Amino acid sequence: MTEQKTDALANLSTEDRRFEPPADLAADANVKAEAYDRAASDREAFWAEAAERLDWGRTWDQVLDWSDAPFAKWFVGGTINASVNCVDRHVEAGRGDKVAIHWVGEPEDDSRDLTYADLLDQVSRAANALTELGVKKGDRVAIYMPMIPEVAVAMLACARLGAPHTVVFGGFSADALASRVTDCEAKVIITADGGYRRGAPSALKPAVDEAVAKTGDLVEHVVVVRRTGQDVEWDEGRDKWWHDVVDTASPDHEPEMHDSEHPLYVMYTSGTTGKPKGILHTTGGYLTGTSWTHWAVFDLKPETDVYWCTADVGWVTGHSYMVYGPLANGTTQVMYEGTPDSPHKGRWWEIVEKYGVTIFYTAPTAIRTFMKWGDDIPAKFDLSSIRLLGSVGEPINPEAYVWYRENIGASTAPVVDTWWQTETGQILISPLPGVTAGKPGSAMKALPGIEVDVVNDEAESVPNGSGGYLVLREPWPAMLRTLWGDDQRFKDTYWSRWEGLYFAGDGAKKDEDGDIWLLGRVDDVMNVSGHRLSTTEIESALVSHPKVAEAAVVGAADEMTGQAVCAFVILRESALGDDGAAPEDLIEELRKHVQKEIGAIAKPRQIMIVPELPKTRSGKIMRRLLKDVAEHREVGDVTTLADSTVMDLIKGKEGAPSSED
Ligand code: WTA
Repeated sequence: MTEQKTDALANLSTEDRRFEPPADLAADANVKAEAYDRAASDREAFWAEAAERLDWGRTWDQVLDWSDAPFAKWFVGGTINASVNCVDRHVEAGRGDKVAIHWVGEPEDDSRDLTYADLLDQVSRAANALTELGVKKGDRVAIYMPMIPEVAVAMLACARLGAPHTVVFGGFSADALASRVTDCEAKVIITADGGYRRGAPSALKPAVDEAVAKTGDLVEHVVVVRRTGQDVEWDEGRDKWWHDVVDTASPDHEPEMHDSEHPLYVMYTSGTTGKPKGILHTTGGYLTGTSWTHWAVFDLKPETDVYWCTADVGWVTGHSYMVYGPLANGTTQVMYEGTPDSPHKGRWWEIVEKYGVTIFYTAPTAIRTFMKWGDDIPAKFDLSSIRLLGSVGEPINPEAYVWYRENIGASTAPVVDTWWQTETGQILISPLPGVTAGKPGSAMKALPGIEVDVVNDEAESVPNGSGGYLVLREPWPAMLRTLWGDDQRFKDTYWSRWEGLYFAGDGAKKDEDGDIWLLGRVDDVMNVSGHRLSTTEIESALVSHPKVAEAAVVGAADEMTGQAVCAFVILRESALGDDGAAPEDLIEELRKHVQKEIGAIAKPRQIMIVPELPKTRSGKIMRRLLKDVAEHREVGDVTTLADSTVMDLIKGKEGAPSSED
């Protein structure tokens, strides 16, 4: 185990604070302790009951078909439409006037409320408009948008038609967009001219134009929402304004019921190799898993709660806990376009106060940023509406947990630390807020109906007090079904390490009570500000620069972002000056190159130009040793290196050209 992980272990051995659920919350909780036993006695019946919370066209014949494991089928024979469950059924039940989305633009006073009736109107029009543009059931549609209500409308319109969407984070580059569009062969891209971030309009359409140019004649149409009013290049015939095609379309759309296993969306995420993986989620099980967990973990009371998840819709959290889970539950929620410090560092808390947010869900990296900015900022606002806090994306350190609870939750709101992944689709490990006494830093235990374990190299369950690998022993409704177009990689990545176990890629520990502490990734995936990045993907980006011969990337511990990207680069001889030194501005050039290839989130915090990289005799780069350097530690065991003097050369470069900001 790395030292970062040992630190986490040291931390938890001294952690003895316990926060009992507030009595009123416990008394009125949606899910009580009995759910664990009920689910354990009949898991499938438990999930069938969760599925009954939804509206089905046809009821399933079989809850789970696991005969072709690891390819699962949930609610076999059932038919369902995700968009009908998220929109129509609330209107039909007389809740059309209820606000679905309080949307807040980044520029102040730029806000809009959408009721469920408004959503139905827009989703129906968008479905008709997409049909008019030739989108049929099964076709893929890429969505590359800022955080505006149209992004949810676009996703739901696709779901309505049975056209799987692939949302690409708006911060990703044209190249990243092009590779995703190509991989899933999207024929339409929905985008916007731009969005507001950090106090200024940023452009999106130029990246789409660049991406489309790289994808041959794959993309037939680009639908553009006018958000900022910037000038955009226009391709007559291919490009359509959203307001021209959607606003003029009919508001009546008769939805078709789709098979429970019909593909709902593909979400690309970083794996251990350079090529992102297209995680495929299907309809019935996914909606069951996300809506039930959203209701259970956040103790959602749709009549009175105002929920806010601060994630971007370009990540899975925005799919499961902003669009599908909350809307299926008829939630009123806040959606905010911009950054937390625009135009001032209290913006989020101002929004909480204005809308009376009761449930707030964010990431540890944001919490640590607010800690740094100071307690006085949230203290200026009335946050008394908040009754429940959630955390996701990376392990939450106990200090951040306690700060969050005290400063945002008035020392009374429970904190639910929720562990899950793009692949799992739904939360799998979390406290139940009315049942579980929280421990700062622990995600506690598997939700009812979920079989989590921590195992050693031999797949044996470890005893309490020990660490190992996090695995899932049984299938769950919102699990990924495969990787888009690559069943073999799906099996190899998740199911081949041990027979019959899903390997999550995370290290974990059971404490003396058997509660689970997540310890970070055990593979070459980094977690920067709660975003997954692959070391190989960034290495490939660096090596694609003409001056780079070889590169190795590690995630080094970082107080704010959890991990930060640190790169070690060997230059080509031709890139060196006559004096054998690297050109002065090269590091900045390389950082910009990574931004262009992948996106700003992948930009290395630090790049060190080195003469060699530490390799084993079989040529594998020993990232563990580079991590020691990046984290300013004594370098560990070098005996397996082909050339054990290499580390001295690298360490000698520590003060040499490098950049940090
Ligand atoms: C990490 C985000 C500790 C973990 C929903 C996982 C967490 C990866 C937690 C998935 C948590 C997520 N505690 N670690 N509460 N939540 N992770 O696919 O390493 O973007 O494997 O999904 O984030 O990241 P992804």
